[in-house]
Amino acid sequence: MAFTLSVNGDNHLIDAEEDTPLLYVLRDELGLNGAKYGCGVGQCGTCTVLSNGAPLRSCIVPAASLVGQQLTTLEGLVRRPEGTLSRLQRAFLTEQAGQCAYCIPGMIMTAEALLREKATPSEAEVRTALDANLCRCGSHNRIVRAVMRAAAEKPE
Ligand code: FES
Ligand code: FES
Repeated sequence: MAFTLSVNGDNHLIDAEEDTPLLYVLRDELGLNGAKYGCGVGQCGTCTVLSNGAPLRSCIVPAASLVGQQLTTLEGLVRRPEGTLSRLQRAFLTEQAGQCAYCIPGMIMTAEALLREKATPSEAEVRTALDANLCRCGSHNRIVRAVMRAAAEKPE
């Protein structure tokens, strides 16, 4: 079936099966590889994107069900046309928050949703927000530090 998706501010005409998960459309049709495939069953959070500003596990939601939503991926946080990284992306690099970094896109997108809702969260709130995002490398403390660093910066 054909439908239109709004991703990172651009409209895209998609031709996909009714039940094709958003993650596959993003990666295979649109070439947006920020969101990663981890578990494929909504458990790890590495595929997280935003739908109208709320975190969404893109591996389990059919793309066709998201018509009319404003979708944002990791790539969409980069300011256009300058190519400037967002404060979260910069903070993750500064804190060297990733080890293998596979979980990092999902961490950043989940943190982005938190900071949009609450500009200056406490460390406990950051930990709670990221609790369901898995990091097999055990980088959680550095990840939390990165989010706190970003939150301390002026909102963009
Ligand atoms: S790949 Fe989507 S939650 Fe794990
Ligand atoms: S840094 Fe490797 S899974 Fe998180």
